[in-house]
Amino acid sequence: MTSEAFAPAKINLALHVTGQRDDGYHLLDSIVMFADVGDRLWFSKAEDMAISVAGPFAEGVPVDRRNLVWRAAELAGFSGAIQLEKNLPHGAGIGGGSSDAAAVLRHCGYAGDGAVLGADVPVCKAAKAQRMQGIGEVLTPLSGWPSLHAVLVNPGVEISTPEVFKALNQKENSEMSGDPMGLSTAEDVIAFLKGQRNDLEDPAQSVAPAITSVLDTLNGMPHCRLARMSGSGATCFALMDTAKHTAEAAQTIATEHADWWVRPCVLS
Ligand code: C5P
Repeated sequence: MTSEAFAPAKINLALHVTGQRDDGYHLLDSIVMFADVGDRLWFSKAEDMAISVAGPFAEGVPVDRRNLVWRAAELAGFSGAIQLEKNLPHGAGIGGGSSDAAAVLRHCGYAGDGAVLGADVPVCKAAKAQRMQGIGEVLTPLSGWPSLHAVLVNPGVEISTPEVFKALNQKENSEMSGDPMGLSTAEDVIAFLKGQRNDLEDPAQSVAPAITSVLDTLNGMPHCRLARMSGSGATCFALMDTAKHTAEAAQTIATEHADWWVRPCVLS
């Protein structure tokens, strides 16, 4: 029997880097939501583990223990065949392997947070609007937050997260200002987010200048309420008020930039 799981794209709507631990990991204060676009996984039980990968971003994805999906399955005590449909670009600041691994843990009913697999795995396992602090393991659900319309754009440049952190000169920046708890309208959430930052935006642009073009393009779209980079990039998002404006912006950008990955979505 085959069963299915969804691994949504993880979007950091704000990402403040507030310090660095002795082991090199950075302390964060971040708002994370999840898109209705993502990878898909199918599971069928068998004695031996095997991973097969298909989809538009299958190329270069390992099918052995190097794949976080494999390690997540081991951790959760699953053995069998896992088919992975890679719809999300890799090295893109939107969760990728962490969200795939988290989907495996959720699917298998694993009780832990999966932090042992990576700093982003706990938030991806929760897979709903959260404030994320510590190095990623301190999670506060933002219950009552509304869903948001967004366009996601990636210019096709793979980014190394450690390289972006290395290019960040000031490691001690302020926490988020204001309180994200209790917000319930898109208007209030967008107003709150406008007061925050992604501290990795500048270092990521020094590593990958294409990000600047993406942000300029998103900021130039009619009805764009807020454009920002997610994670360590290169994917950026623009928040819009309606599904119609979102679809129109996605259409315009995809037409003007045929080599960019562009997806209208709903974040929750
Ligand atoms: O934990 P994970 O392997 O997903 O993180 C990838 C890299 O991102 C780490 O090796 C580290 O360089 C960087 N990172 C960090 N601080 C975090 C999360 C990730 O420095 N809180």
